[in-house]
Amino acid sequence: MLDPFYITTPIYYVNARPHLGHAYTTTVADVAFRFHGMQGRQCFFLTGTDEHGDKIVEAAEREKMSPRSYVDMISAEFRRLWPELNIHPSDFIRTTEQRHIAVVQQVLQKIYDAGDIYFSEYEGLYCFGCERFYTERELVDGKCPDHEKAPERIREANYFFKMSRYQDWLIDHIEKHPDFIRPERYRNEVLAFLREPLEDLCISRPKTRLRWGITLPFDEEYVTYVWFDALLNYVSALGYPDGERYTTFWPHAQHLIAKDILKPHGIYWPTMLRAAGIPVYQHLNVHGYWNVDQSKMSKSLGNVIEPLELKNIYGLDAFRFFLMRDMTFGLDSSFSEEALVERINADLANDLGNLFSRVLAMAHRYFKGRVPEVDPDLEPKLRFGLKDEALQAIDDFERQMEGFGFNTALAAVWKFIGQMNRYVDYSMPWELAKNEASARQLAAVIYNLLEGLRVVSGLIYPVMPDTAARMQQHLGLDAGEPFYLLERLRAWGGLPAGTPLPKAVALFPRIDTRKKEKPQPPPESAGLRDLKEEISIETFGRVDLRVATVLHAEPVPRADRLIRLEVDCGERRTIVAGIAKHYDPADLVGRQVIIVANLKPAKLMGVLSQGMLLAASRGKSLALLTPDREMKPGTPIR
Ligand code: ME8
Ligand code: MG
Repeated sequence: MLDPFYITTPIYYVNARPHLGHAYTTTVADVAFRFHGMQGRQCFFLTGTDEHGDKIVEAAEREKMSPRSYVDMISAEFRRLWPELNIHPSDFIRTTEQRHIAVVQQVLQKIYDAGDIYFSEYEGLYCFGCERFYTERELVDGKCPDHEKAPERIREANYFFKMSRYQDWLIDHIEKHPDFIRPERYRNEVLAFLREPLEDLCISRPKTRLRWGITLPFDEEYVTYVWFDALLNYVSALGYPDGERYTTFWPHAQHLIAKDILKPHGIYWPTMLRAAGIPVYQHLNVHGYWNVDQSKMSKSLGNVIEPLELKNIYGLDAFRFFLMRDMTFGLDSSFSEEALVERINADLANDLGNLFSRVLAMAHRYFKGRVPEVDPDLEPKLRFGLKDEALQAIDDFERQMEGFGFNTALAAVWKFIGQMNRYVDYSMPWELAKNEASARQLAAVIYNLLEGLRVVSGLIYPVMPDTAARMQQHLGLDAGEPFYLLERLRAWGGLPAGTPLPKAVALFPRIDTRKKEKPQPPPESAGLRDLKEEISIETFGRVDLRVATVLHAEPVPRADRLIRLEVDCGERRTIVAGIAKHYDPADLVGRQVIIVANLKPAKLMGVLSQGMLLAASRGKSLALLTPDREMKPGTPIR
């Protein structure tokens, strides 16, 4: 049995509404969670909100709300966002919950009883933004480097945690466990910090100054410092000290944060755990920052679009893919709509989408939409290494994902997609199809390609779960099953011969960037020239318009305007359309169109056309009509 897996995100402050940065970290956690599920591990995924402290009180005041109703409101916004991103945490913890408060007080008491908390007068430079004291050395031009404001000198009696006692132990632990903090740059950063003497940590705030916090169990007049409170969420949510979840998952804890909160997680937290007699976490995974390039974001109504909005425009899976593919874990990255669109067109529409529709179109054309029966002797001979390449991709993917190398894990999958595209090119199924004698070879080639797609659908699952499920369905498989288990992906030959394959769809339509680069002026109004005679609604109602999906398209020989289409409009039909000057047949496959379904059939260049496509056209311009979301073929237009 493999070890369980426990992943956490920071619990986010409720003084700001959720944004791209929060979405990124939580998506990474979801991807890691799903990936460890592919290995067959028992997994737990925690996120939540950090709700105490000055900053929250100030934010509530700004909104003219009580802290209580304010934190309820913003916390609910975070909670609602996650399912919209297809993120499903195992638990959501709030620091204002009783289960959390009880653990904080219990741990404080334990450390106090052990003699690691003392009371002392302290005077220092305090930044209200950071809610912490600064040493002179940490200031930049006398100002807090984060808030660029001079801290205030305050003097008060407070409780302190003897963090300094654990400095040597911590250095030793980090040195003995090279991947305790990863990637390495952040480990080095923490070690550099530990080269200077570690000061004790002030862990209380007098209630005369702040009431919105957890009361110290050993002094009614004080509340707990937010970080000492917040970090404990990672164990309180598991039911520390004797909950079953705690016993199962805590020994395998991995935290996920950005570089902004490295110090509390790399220094305060392990020393707190040590002092409380709790084993320390396994790994601290630290990522960089997304910088949003405002000049490369589209604007609507004069407002710059919020990065998170882009998921509604370009699709959630594409958005998740971009986040995972474009950031090297640990480094900063810049976010722009341009980069997102480029990724979608190159990796998703072109590499993956085209391969998928090409292979399925061939399975439909040559094998009547079923997984072909293969000759067991012939099939391995015609693999040309495809199976080995698939197994290599699975191994590389697994190794990279384990180390949080999401972009390299995806690169390994796309390398395999490239190998499959080349396999199509050199095995040339269309040539094999010309000859009855090579029918068995053709079956083997198509089978191998379908198997390769099955592997790809499993490997993209943690990043693009919806697309993975759609691919499974189109491969005739049950998307409800844990199809993504690595063990199943490694078992080449998993697709049963004879499985019926539903019609292919375009997984990722290409995004037209020409429109984006040069916003075209709205076309001049065409005017209502050539308006036809008035008709009644009953007359119009006699036209039967339907949604149809294009299954196949090819030019009609000797007719340079005509394309012959095979469509699914609830039944299979042939339609001849005069659109060859405007569309490439290959670009039509998978598209949905609107047809007149009760038009009297007519022969065009010797082909019987059973209906007509609707298009807007005047002069030289023409555009096909398409429903603005995918509909079941045969759906009537009313
Ligand atoms: O620090 N790029 O909460 P917080 C990438 N409550 N990630 C970003 C980001 C960006 N531009 N901006 C924010 C707190 N993040 C504490 C944590 S944990 C016990 C307490 C993400 O709301 C990233 O994960 O300020 C970062 O660490 C976190 O949001 C900070 O969230
Ligand atoms: Mg912050």
